[in-house]
Amino acid sequence: MAGPQVLSDFDETHYISDVLVYAIPVLLLIYLFRLNQVIKSTPEEVSRLSPSTSRWTKKLLQETYERLEKDCITTTSYACSIPPKLKRRYVVTGGSGLVGGYIVLQLLERGQPAEAIRIVDFRAPNRPDMVTGPASEVDFVQTDISSVESTTKAFSKPWSPSVAHLPLTVFHTAAVIVPSERSRLVYKLCEAVNIHGTQNVVDAARKAGADILISTTSGSIAIRPIKFWIAPWKLWDVSGSTWPRHFWQVLDEKDFFEPPRPHDGYYANYPASKAAAERIVCGANTPSFRTGCIRPANGVYGNPTDNTVGGPLNSGDYPTWTPHIIQSFCHGINAALAHLHFEAVLASRSTKSSLPSQAGRPYVVTDPNQPITYNDLYTAILTLATTHFQIIPLPPILILLLSHAIEFYILLPLKYPIFRRILPPLTGDVRFLQPAIMDICTHLVASNSNISRPVEVGGLGYTGVITTLDGMVQEILEWNREHREAEAEGRKVVYHTSIALPDQLRKAGAGNSTS
Ligand SMILES: *[C@@H]1O[C@H](CO)[C@@H](O)[C@H](O)[C@H]1NC(C)=O
Repeated sequence: MAGPQVLSDFDETHYISDVLVYAIPVLLLIYLFRLNQVIKSTPEEVSRLSPSTSRWTKKLLQETYERLEKDCITTTSYACSIPPKLKRRYVVTGGSGLVGGYIVLQLLERGQPAEAIRIVDFRAPNRPDMVTGPASEVDFVQTDISSVESTTKAFSKPWSPSVAHLPLTVFHTAAVIVPSERSRLVYKLCEAVNIHGTQNVVDAARKAGADILISTTSGSIAIRPIKFWIAPWKLWDVSGSTWPRHFWQVLDEKDFFEPPRPHDGYYANYPASKAAAERIVCGANTPSFRTGCIRPANGVYGNPTDNTVGGPLNSGDYPTWTPHIIQSFCHGINAALAHLHFEAVLASRSTKSSLPSQAGRPYVVTDPNQPITYNDLYTAILTLATTHFQIIPLPPILILLLSHAIEFYILLPLKYPIFRRILPPLTGDVRFLQPAIMDICTHLVASNSNISRPVEVGGLGYTGVITTLDGMVQEILEWNREHREAEAEGRKVVYHTSIALPDQLRKAGAGNSTS
């Protein structure tokens, strides 16, 4: 009798394990499928801020293009919105870049002489609007701000006698943008340039006698990492709590007034380093050295070297999982203007012993319009760019899973040196596909509510001069023009993107000397 008994027991466990073998993967697939649907959707709260009636249509885009073709937005066209000239000298770190470059152009436009401006940057200016005209007369001092020596040297270089007696303002916009690394194992470069570099600039500025320093930080400091892996039963909860935690976020300044978060409370190394830099700058604020920070929110754009518009324009075939994602953007022109508004407040409302309430804190700045969707941007490029562009839609869940695998692969040889010989390093853009990229590509909205308030009630009296629609369309227009001209002359257009800078800096040894 014992034999059949054993057999049927065996059958039963066999049956159960069979069920498990099939059921677990099936349940897992259902879970991933549903999570994918969730990530591909837009919460009510966010779509209300950017209603479907505001989507960019082909007609709207074409009309905007024609209008800007006839009447494009230049530093001169918005000159009346630039805060008036001050009798001061200027150091602009990162002055060859997007925001720093616009600061230089706006200073010149309002009548500051070229000899009263100094660009302190790792790279010489090569923007078309800076290599000709008055901007080409501005002094450039090649500098690695992660080095104390190099930074001090750049600040202590003598000025032309015509301006040497004037008070000094420093605009500190230099930084490295590494959008997707979050491990402390690869924190060195961000730490060296964004944290130690900022400390070096603050020290050198003070030593050089500056009395105002305004630094560019980032709206992304506010971002918290998304908790994607929510309990399966919550995925079908229709009460509104379905969303993975932090799936949509407001980019505000609240975090600055709270204790600093631990490293993993920021979405990546970049915002962690910018948060630390912001506290260095604001911590240095005194009546004789007034400081403040501007947080552009979130993607800064305005030149084909940028990531937001330049990225897709440059790539042609563009894999993406974000067409539905709603975000606020900030044109370099608006970001630069915010710095000048801040300077005006710090220069006028201070005495030797008192400080305006605006000093020593950050302000978020974004374009003067509601947020847009990535699909608005893609439609603009598809409709208006004369170069090839095609989006390749990808399921977000695939990117989420892949990003963890890629990060694991990249960190393995850093954790265990034995893998250094076995695993070839990843090259190309796939390196950027790490989990943090999901956080920066989620629904993120910002507002100008604080920065736009009148100066009397604690704001900076800022108003943006260029909308996201005009700014992005104009960038495509300029892209088309550059390509048309290059084609006529038989050359190729090559851009130095901000994402390529970290590689150049690593090659030059930044980050090895300081930490
Ligand atoms: C406005 O500033 C206050 C502090 O003055 C801050 O708590 C708040 O978060 C800011 N609002 C936004 C939207 O950034």
